Amino acid sequence: METLRLSTNEGDLILAGEIIRSGGLVAFPTETVYGLGADALNAEAVASVYRAKGRPSDNPMIVHIADVSDLYALIDGGMKGLSDEASKLMMNLWPGPLTLIFKKADIVPDVTTGGLDTVAIRMPSNPTARRLIKFTGRPIAAPSANRSGRPSPTTAYDVLEDMDGRIDAVVISDQCDVGIESTVVDLTGSIPYILRPGAVTKEKLERILKRAVLYDKSLLEKPSAEESPEDGVADNGFRPKSPGMKYTHYSPKATVRLIEGDDNEFREKAMKLGLEAREKGQKAAILDYNNDPGKAAHKLFAELRELDRQGYDLVLIRTLNEEGFGFSVMNRMLKSAGYDVVK
Ligand code: TXA
Ligand code: MG
Repeated sequence: METLRLSTNEGDLILAGEIIRSGGLVAFPTETVYGLGADALNAEAVASVYRAKGRPSDNPMIVHIADVSDLYALIDGGMKGLSDEASKLMMNLWPGPLTLIFKKADIVPDVTTGGLDTVAIRMPSNPTARRLIKFTGRPIAAPSANRSGRPSPTTAYDVLEDMDGRIDAVVISDQCDVGIESTVVDLTGSIPYILRPGAVTKEKLERILKRAVLYDKSLLEKPSAEESPEDGVADNGFRPKSPGMKYTHYSPKATVRLIEGDDNEFREKAMKLGLEAREKGQKAAILDYNNDPGKAAHKLFAELRELDRQGYDLVLIRTLNEEGFGFSVMNRMLKSAGYDVVK
């Protein structure tokens, strides 16, 4: 199939909406990363997203809406199904990079939720994403628009690298300001639980909810081989992980290693490893985001993809402090590096 290149003008977005309504797939920018959109209520269309991405079908998708009023049809109990805590988070943080997990309504097909009885919902702030959802007139299921396992795309160029010829259209626009995916929060249990860290931090959630929010320390650890989505359902406040967190993620072709240390230690270790690589005839790159998580998030995936295109074999990245947004970005960096940290 030929992948149409669309602009953000009204005519093109109306066409993109028509493509989605008729069961097609359109990649579009959000404020986090590019999404690969399909009609969330059309099981066939959603199944074709899994095929285009090469994604395991037990990994559920996020459903994107443009208005809070679009939410009620998708969740169990409708407007009454909305908890006070969910309302608070929505009022304070939507539209924006926050995904909330709800018990799902029957109209949401099982394929959209990977067979779970819950549904992940997010209202993006990106104006192009919002207009597209409005013109489509349906909730849009959209995982990140990468081939499964690859770094999430933050430009149309990166989307086309993975998806050209596999999807109906891509909306071209560089507006993925955040650069890593949304924070996923599960409010269906007794304690709010962060399943995937993002730009909306634990601290921010706690300020709004005025109580402790949990996340798994293991978000910064290598997952054990026997982990499954059913694991960890217990009455001690521990919640199941997001199914998506167990898969290999964000892997460029190059080997990625993280390096800890102050300015001098980092420089010494990076120089040594870089030289060793060069002696073996390899190309090595060094990335130092000066402990600025916003900058690191904005650039990380795009730079990993660019270094792959330029044929780098080794990418050495300086670690960030694991505080606030730094925790979220370190989660992605560690996955890219297969948890290899040079101490
Ligand atoms: O920023 C984002 O969230 C981007 C943009 C496009 O919106 N989307 C995105 O989607 O990152 P995806 O499919 O790459 O990641 C969705 C994550 C996965 O880790 C998945 O397991 C989790 O959300 N998830 C989805 N539905 C869930 C559910 N019902 N319960 C638990 N986790 C869920
Ligand atoms: Mg993804």
